[in-house]
Amino acid sequence: MTAETLIEAAPANEVPPRAPVELDQVTKRYGRRRSTVPALDRVSLSLAAGSFTAVLGVSGSGKSTLLQCAAGLERPTAGTVRLCGAELNKLPSRRQAALRRRRVGFVFQDLNLLPELTVAENIALPLRLDRRPARRPDIEQAAARVGLGGAQLRRRPGELSGGQQQRVAIARALVTRPDVIFADEPTGALDPHTATTMLQLLRAAPDGTTVVIVTHDPQVTRFCDQAVFLHAGRVDRVLPAPEPGLVARLLFDLGERAAAGPSAAPGSPA
Ligand SMILES: Nc1ncnc2c1ncn2[C@@H]1O[C@H](COP(=O)(O)OP(=O)(O)OP(=O)(O)O)[C@@H](O)[C@H]1O
Ligand SMILES: [Mg+2]
Repeated sequence: MTAETLIEAAPANEVPPRAPVELDQVTKRYGRRRSTVPALDRVSLSLAAGSFTAVLGVSGSGKSTLLQCAAGLERPTAGTVRLCGAELNKLPSRRQAALRRRRVGFVFQDLNLLPELTVAENIALPLRLDRRPARRPDIEQAAARVGLGGAQLRRRPGELSGGQQQRVAIARALVTRPDVIFADEPTGALDPHTATTMLQLLRAAPDGTTVVIVTHDPQVTRFCDQAVFLHAGRVDRVLPAPEPGLVARLLFDLGERAAAGPSAAPGSPA
């Protein structure tokens, strides 16, 4: 197709939708010393609406930092993050927080469920924090999507199994119908069967929901459209339609390179 036919094919006044998660040359250094090795080093990524992305890499490669910067929970040292079309460093922190409450869902490895609240109250929390009505049917629907209901909704998290608690955390991330869900090792502590179920639940988020999930588990990438590999804070490669066997090999190679230290020869760049 020529450039002319491309121009003709696009309606004159239609601007292509922006990716909901965009990082441009994002660098993050912790602490004040400029000499420190950056946790993220000029990372550029664009995640399309509705995409499901796994972020992989050895411990310390910058995966959590990437998620935190993309979600506006950490401020990059340099570079630009756009979340749901908004350039985060141009938003005052109150508006950033409002954007997160309204359009972003989180699932963290340590879940952050509040032990004093019931399951239903935990699921309702993001709505309450945003001063939105937490209607019973909405809570029940979010719970039902992850297979929870009935008397379970009146229990406290401590009375549930680890897998059930994980379901509560996912229901809580889904209840606001977010545009983007960030999940940092949400299946880290689960047996393979329960982990697979959790991934299917995240995968079943409504069409258009963008999901970014940090994982050490190559099997998780079966559910993903792409796998982003980090090495020493940089994007080492982006693998579309990842296959777990290949992902495991690539992860092993990254481990060898990390063990060999910073002088190791770089692999194929993204
Ligand atoms: N709050 C912090 N203060 C100082 N250094 C930090 C902080 N958070 C992360 N780092 C450093 O930044 C680098 C990247 O850390 P990060 O937590 O992003 O790695 P990760 O890939 O998520 O590792 P893991 O798989 O162990 O969770 C590491 O060297 C880590 O020590
Ligand atoms: Mg981490």
